[in-house]
Amino acid sequence: MVDGAHSLYRMGVRELPGVLLKATAEWLSSYKKLQLYSKSLNFGASAIAFAAPYFAMALGLFLTPLGLSTVGSAVAVRQLLAGVFEPASQLMAKLSSFYQFKASFQIVAELVEGWAEPPAVKQGASVVVKNAVLGHGGRAVLHVDSLVLEHGDFLWIRGPTGAGKSTLGKAIAGLIKPLEGSVEAPEGAIYIGNDDYIFDGTVYENITLWEEYPREEVERAARLARIDFPLDKPCGEGGSSLSEGQRQRVIMARALLRRPRSLVMDEITSGLNAEVEEEVLEAVKREVPIVVVISHRDTAGKYANKIVEVNNGIARVVKCATPRP
Ligand SMILES: Nc1ncnc2c1ncn2[C@@H]1O[C@H](COP(=O)(O)OP(=O)(O)O)[C@@H](O)[C@H]1O
Ligand SMILES: [Mg+2]
Repeated sequence: MVDGAHSLYRMGVRELPGVLLKATAEWLSSYKKLQLYSKSLNFGASAIAFAAPYFAMALGLFLTPLGLSTVGSAVAVRQLLAGVFEPASQLMAKLSSFYQFKASFQIVAELVEGWAEPPAVKQGASVVVKNAVLGHGGRAVLHVDSLVLEHGDFLWIRGPTGAGKSTLGKAIAGLIKPLEGSVEAPEGAIYIGNDDYIFDGTVYENITLWEEYPREEVERAARLARIDFPLDKPCGEGGSSLSEGQRQRVIMARALLRRPRSLVMDEITSGLNAEVEEEVLEAVKREVPIVVVISHRDTAGKYANKIVEVNNGIARVVKCATPRP
C-alpha cells in the first residue's frame, strides 16, 4: 500500500484511502503517537505472541504437582494460546503497515494538491501550456513556449533520457505545477507510467482499485487494453506474478476504466509486441479525447497529429496537424 499511494492518487482514487483514513481517525486521537505506537505495537505483539504460550505452559507445569493441572492440559493450553496470539500478532503488523500507508498517502496528496492557483480551465477539455518553466523542487528542467491540445489530438513526446519528457507529461496531467507561466489541465486527466503500482490482488481488483464499477465496464477496459489473461489471476505484490507487458496492460486498463478526458501514457507500452502496441494505441485514440504518448519507439508517430521534441531544456513542437476527423 505504501508504495502504491502515488498510483491511487494519479487515478483520482480518493474514496478507498478516505474510508480507511476515516476508520482510523476513530481509533486514534493523535497521529504522531500512533507512529510511535505502531513500532512498539509490532515489537510488543510479537513478544507477547512468543512468550504467552510458554508462560501458560510453565504455569500449568507449576500447578501440576499441586494437582490443579496436568502436563497434558498445560501443553494443550500452550498450543491453544499460540493459535490465538499468532493472528493477533499479524493484525498488529497490518495496523503498523496501514499507518505507514497513511503517512505516505498524505505526503503525496499534499504535494499534488499544492497548486498555488487551481488550473484556470476546469470545465474545458483542452490542455493549454503557455510560456511555462517546468521543474522539480524549484530547479528548472524544461521551458515550453506554447502547447495547445484539443479534443481529438494525439501527441507524441520524444527526446533523450533525462530531457524532461516525464516532467512535461506530468504537467499536462496537472500533477505538477509550473515554476513559471501557466498550465491548464482538464479535469479528468490521468497520467500513467511504469512506476505505477500493482497491488497484491487480482487483475480485476487492480483495475478497479477496489472502487465500485459495473463488471461490463471493467471487462470493456480490459478488452481495450488487450488483456488476454484471466481477470481473477492474482498479480502478487508489485505485480510479481505478471510479465512486464501484463503489468503495463493492467495499468492501462485501470486508466481506461475511468474514461479520462486526457490520458498521458509514459513509456507504458515498452513491454508489448508491436502488434499489441498498435492495437492498444488505436483503441486509446478512439476512446480518449486527448492522448499523450511518451515513447522511444516510433509506433506512436503513426497515430500522432502533433509531435513535441524535448531536448536541451526546451520542448519544441515539430509537428502540428489538425486531428483526423
Ligand atoms: N521528482 C523529481 N525530483 C527532482 N528531480 C527530478 C524529479 N523527476 C525528474 N527529475 C529531474 O528532472 C530531469 C528530467 O527528468 P524526466 O522528466 O524524468 O526526464 P525523461 O522522462 O525525459 O527521462 C532529470 O534531470 C531528472 O533528474
Ligand atoms: Mg521519463
